Amino acid sequence: MAERESIAVFGAGYVGLVTAVGFAELGSEVFLVEIEPRKREALEGGRVPIYEPGLQELYDEVRGRIHLLSAASQLPDSVRLAFVAVGTPPAPSGDADLSAVYAVVDDLVTHTPRGAERAVVMKSTVPCGTGKGILRRFAELGSDLAYVSCPEFLREGNAVEDFFAPDRVVVGEVGDWAGEAVVDLYRPLLEQGVPLVRTDVASAEMIKLAANAFLATKISFINEIANVCEATGADVLEVARGMGLDHRIGTAFLRAGIGYGGSCFTKDVSALKLLASNSGYHFQLLTAVIEVNELQKRRVVQKLERHLGSLAGTRIALLGLAFKPHTDDMRGAASVVLAGRLLGEGAEVTAYDPVAMERARQLLPGLEYRSDPYQALAGADAVVLVTEWPELVALDWRAAAHQMAGRLVIDGRNVLDPKTIAEAGLDYEGIGRPAVASRQPSGAGKEGS
Ligand code: UGA
Repeated sequence: MAERESIAVFGAGYVGLVTAVGFAELGSEVFLVEIEPRKREALEGGRVPIYEPGLQELYDEVRGRIHLLSAASQLPDSVRLAFVAVGTPPAPSGDADLSAVYAVVDDLVTHTPRGAERAVVMKSTVPCGTGKGILRRFAELGSDLAYVSCPEFLREGNAVEDFFAPDRVVVGEVGDWAGEAVVDLYRPLLEQGVPLVRTDVASAEMIKLAANAFLATKISFINEIANVCEATGADVLEVARGMGLDHRIGTAFLRAGIGYGGSCFTKDVSALKLLASNSGYHFQLLTAVIEVNELQKRRVVQKLERHLGSLAGTRIALLGLAFKPHTDDMRGAASVVLAGRLLGEGAEVTAYDPVAMERARQLLPGLEYRSDPYQALAGADAVVLVTEWPELVALDWRAAAHQMAGRLVIDGRNVLDPKTIAEAGLDYEGIGRPAVASRQPSGAGKEGS
């Protein structure tokens, strides 16, 4: 195997860690620069500080090629490609906060020898125009650093798989050596048939924001269809299936539920909307996408009230807290809004999540956490399935019914079988699906039509 280029990755979050471990697996020496001592210590001790399927195992395998550093000053001069994968959270204004990105850029400017061939490769999601701004900064400071935009499309919970089999690799470049070097780094994936989009920096930046905004739009669209289905008696699962088979629409991201969460959609849709406003364009569609999503998280409370009346003094169990399964990430999770509203209405809220409870405790101190789902259901008047963890989907609903004081099951992700729930003696309500009332367990063993 030809020797692979050594690289630097700044930031050991979801994107940075997966990028570092992924390129190490493809054969690069990787200098992983992380400013938080606790994260460095965990990694130095062999422990990946986030939950992401397959990542720990891959880290164990490639650890010998990952070198932990705390600053750009420690980078060997020979490292040409410096991937930036630090956070770009929303600032109080709603615009993306680029302070962590600029801290890395400045660190690299200061510690890159004059005349050295080195490029900043932007993996963090940044507003369009950021690359141009950074290139201007290089020019002002007399830095020879090059710049490439290389947006990341991996999904949490699927990140390792997505690194090795992305739908595409996007490289936004100005036409110098650096774009070519990034393409070379991805060569093993490109040789497997992964499409490459080589383009200018501004377009690469926009591809990332537009892709996330479109996916969020699909979700808000199907959620609105679900709400109309509830009024008309249609079943949104059937509707989504029938719509999605039109290849121009596609079946993906048409799962109705209690709204999208996570840091990315929430942040990127707002960022794109603001970016448009800042340049004088009112992106009306995205305003609706955001509003529909916020309302969707709250509709569950109305459903509960319809069945239980006032929620004051009721006991509601939340199953799943993370914004999606296979992650411990709580950012933007529907559970946060829902739990807040339920506590606000005076309900007692019990909760269970297979991996996110530690993080949830910090955000939602008012909940009663239980170490298994059945304990969370004990004495509950209603249960809301918030996150479709496989172990929660596969719950024994007869056993669950024995634990509960009430009968209502709200399936916030449309993943449960209404018939199974009804046969367990519980009432089923999904999102955009006909409700199914419980059948008395006396009919056990008899199949309904
Ligand atoms: C998303 C994108 O899918 C990635 O391509 C992108 O790289 C990433 O954001 C990012 O910008 O970093 P992620 O946030 O990890 O990835 O998770 P998704 O699988 O996209 O799910 C986001 C949310 O949408 C979840 O809360 C999920 O439950 C919800 N969702 C998804 C639905 O409600 N319905 C669907 O049909 C699909």
